[in-house]
Amino acid sequence: MIGPFCAMRFPQKTAAKALSDRPDHVRHNTKSYYLKTFGCQMNVYDSERMAEALARDGYRETDDLEHADLVILNTCHIREKAAEKVYSDLGRIRDVKVARKRDGNETVIAVAGCVAQAEGHEITTRQPAVDLVIGPQSYHRLPELIAQAETTRKHIVETEFPGDEKFERMKAPRRVASPSAFLTVQEGCDKFCTFCVVPYTRGAEFSRPLVKIEAEARELVAAGAKELVLLGQNVNAYHGEGPSGRSIGLAELIRRLADIDGVERIRYTTSHPRDMDDDLIAAHADVPQLMPFLHLPVQSGSDRMLAAMNRKHTAAEYIDLIGRIRAARPDIALSSDFIVGFPGETEQDAEDTVALVKAVGFAQAFSFKYSARPGTPAAALEPQVPEDLKSERLQRLQALLENQQLEFNARSLGQDVPVLFERRGRQPGEFVGRTPYLQLVHAAAEGEFVGRTARVAVTETRRVSLSGVIAAA
Ligand code: 5AD
Ligand code: SF4
Repeated sequence: MIGPFCAMRFPQKTAAKALSDRPDHVRHNTKSYYLKTFGCQMNVYDSERMAEALARDGYRETDDLEHADLVILNTCHIREKAAEKVYSDLGRIRDVKVARKRDGNETVIAVAGCVAQAEGHEITTRQPAVDLVIGPQSYHRLPELIAQAETTRKHIVETEFPGDEKFERMKAPRRVASPSAFLTVQEGCDKFCTFCVVPYTRGAEFSRPLVKIEAEARELVAAGAKELVLLGQNVNAYHGEGPSGRSIGLAELIRRLADIDGVERIRYTTSHPRDMDDDLIAAHADVPQLMPFLHLPVQSGSDRMLAAMNRKHTAAEYIDLIGRIRAARPDIALSSDFIVGFPGETEQDAEDTVALVKAVGFAQAFSFKYSARPGTPAAALEPQVPEDLKSERLQRLQALLENQQLEFNARSLGQDVPVLFERRGRQPGEFVGRTPYLQLVHAAAEGEFVGRTARVAVTETRRVSLSGVIAAA
């Protein structure tokens, strides 16, 4: 999998090419689509669902933009850079559309995801070659809206928030691109951190009912998934409808999913410190399938900054929480997100963050320069921190975090670790998988290991990965 939830990071071609590609009941269609996903795992999950719906309609996926009848960008709005990248891509795609038109081929361009939700009509104004703008809550209408775009050749902008309808109506069979499968259990966020667009782009918190999640989990396992990664913008705020209409929390959901035959590993992301309740902490101690890894963003180690960010906790409360989690599961590997250069941040605030990182010790982390997002409260705060100071503080923080990651991985040297292999590597005979602590592992072996868990004797450690020899399956 890629980084933790909001840890969006890398634009990627959607890996929606499943092992069993075409369902039997596909409709006749000779068209192909090109789908590019930006951002977090939630977007990857949504792209997989869109790909499934398109496959059901007979579309084939292509890597070749020039041969695509339909181009979808599933976009991210969390930082300015991510959003602007969409417009530069759209310029390039418009040129392809024009060239294809000269050859007598039509192309439908669709913008999905959080930029679509946040910017709506502005997208077709800035780039008129875009035919369809579709927000994350409307994906169940994708095939219908594509057909409408093809026939009317008018701009269509669909950014309504119809609650859970999307999940109910996206009924294409689940496929799995990897033994580690994403499963969205919760969407939206009510926390309103002052820097964040998510409460505006993904809306209010909504938790899917247990029965629906269990049904999807069973489908994923039947399709080859061994690990379930439960997704939500604020996943540990999960409070879905459980047995007899009673509301259940994330811990109970995890316990129920752990009871499904074939579920070997469970992870969840992303969480808020305030929603880390005792039951969830206890689940880390007593659910064997729940992996000893937790992405728990803290954002800053300065109480002044945490208050200005509306994080609803202090640095000491975070450190105390980590202590309680470690008491339940001593070997847990911790991950976090940090923002440097939030408005008003001083040298002392930046030092407080460094002190928190030293106090906790992270196995991995993501850190970003603050990016002012239009419409969020922090965008209007003064003083904004100059870019060069942000860069300097980011470098300092990243040097420390990278060192901690290097040290964390170095502890695996000479150990025998269980690795779930997710895919083949670039070298012949090489397989790539993850340890329970989410470390990436490369190992060479004869035979087929994708989808299998095997013990690996670790012979080499680096900052972002380990190498080793498969010791036993
Ligand atoms: N600027 C910089 N980073 C941000 N994040 C969210 N909003 C912003 C912003 N405006 C970071 C937070 C969050 C992660 C997904 O992205 O650290 O946890
Ligand atoms: Fe954004 Fe804060 Fe909600 Fe995370 S908890 S999605 S940072 S508002």
